[in-house]
Amino acid sequence: MSLVTLKEILKETREKKYAVPAFNFNGYEDAQGMMNSALRMRSPIILMASMGAARYIGLKQTVGMIKGMAESVDIPVCLHLDHATDAAFLKEAVVAGFTSVMIDASKKDFKENIEITKEVAAYAKKFGCSVEAELGRIGGREEEIAVDDASSALTDPERVPEFVEKTGVDALAVAIGTAHGFYKSTPKLDFERLRKIAELTSCPLVLHGGTGVSETDFQTCVSLGMSKINVGTEFKAAYTNAIRDAVAVNETAEVDPRNYMKYVKTKCEEIAEGKMRLFHSAGMA
Ligand code: 13P
Repeated sequence: MSLVTLKEILKETREKKYAVPAFNFNGYEDAQGMMNSALRMRSPIILMASMGAARYIGLKQTVGMIKGMAESVDIPVCLHLDHATDAAFLKEAVVAGFTSVMIDASKKDFKENIEITKEVAAYAKKFGCSVEAELGRIGGREEEIAVDDASSALTDPERVPEFVEKTGVDALAVAIGTAHGFYKSTPKLDFERLRKIAELTSCPLVLHGGTGVSETDFQTCVSLGMSKINVGTEFKAAYTNAIRDAVAVNETAEVDPRNYMKYVKTKCEEIAEGKMRLFHSAGMA
């Protein structure tokens, strides 16, 4: 199938009570492992490149690679640019063929966040590309974006309808107590806040910082209306550990990359399948 937009891939999530898994990839093998699982589990999937990953692989190369994978399967696949803080780069990604982009103007004040997001959304729509934005500030570190505890801020539910209406976004990342990266202590999610936000808007909601969130917390989020769940660090760590372990076993003799890179695929497949079951996206494609 051709790549689909975020709007399209999320459209039935609320009604059917599932969340589409959104995984950060950094190369070919992890992306392929994620895709293999989606196909096996019959799950829709959102493959996300951070600005760093998209620069590392190349924008056109990222689109070419994921588009090629999507065209060889019969399940919906969306290619998403994650946490773009640079509007010029985001626009390049839209032109290159991403079917979804996230503008992260969450460190600006409410009014400025609306202005920046609205401008980007109007641009992306001309290309048939979806837009996600963030309201509130999700803590932790997501590549270059570091938000310490003092500057993180939970989403104010009352501001959500105005934000969604004025910006025209297709999905909204909300801060309810998760953070990017590994947790230092068990995260405490504010489900009451999520319930309220979901009551106030029909805009699909996005949970960031999926690494380290417990199975029951994921399931509660899905039952309360979370439509997209992001997981990144868990895959990054699995990628690196898979290579490290495989090379260590046969340190001197191994020169064929396929003989150790294949473990990246299998590790990522394992993680992805678990998430698809938890998010109830398995069987939805
Ligand atoms: P983690 O790296 O904590 O899983 O978060 C991923 C994420 O939310 C990407 O936007």
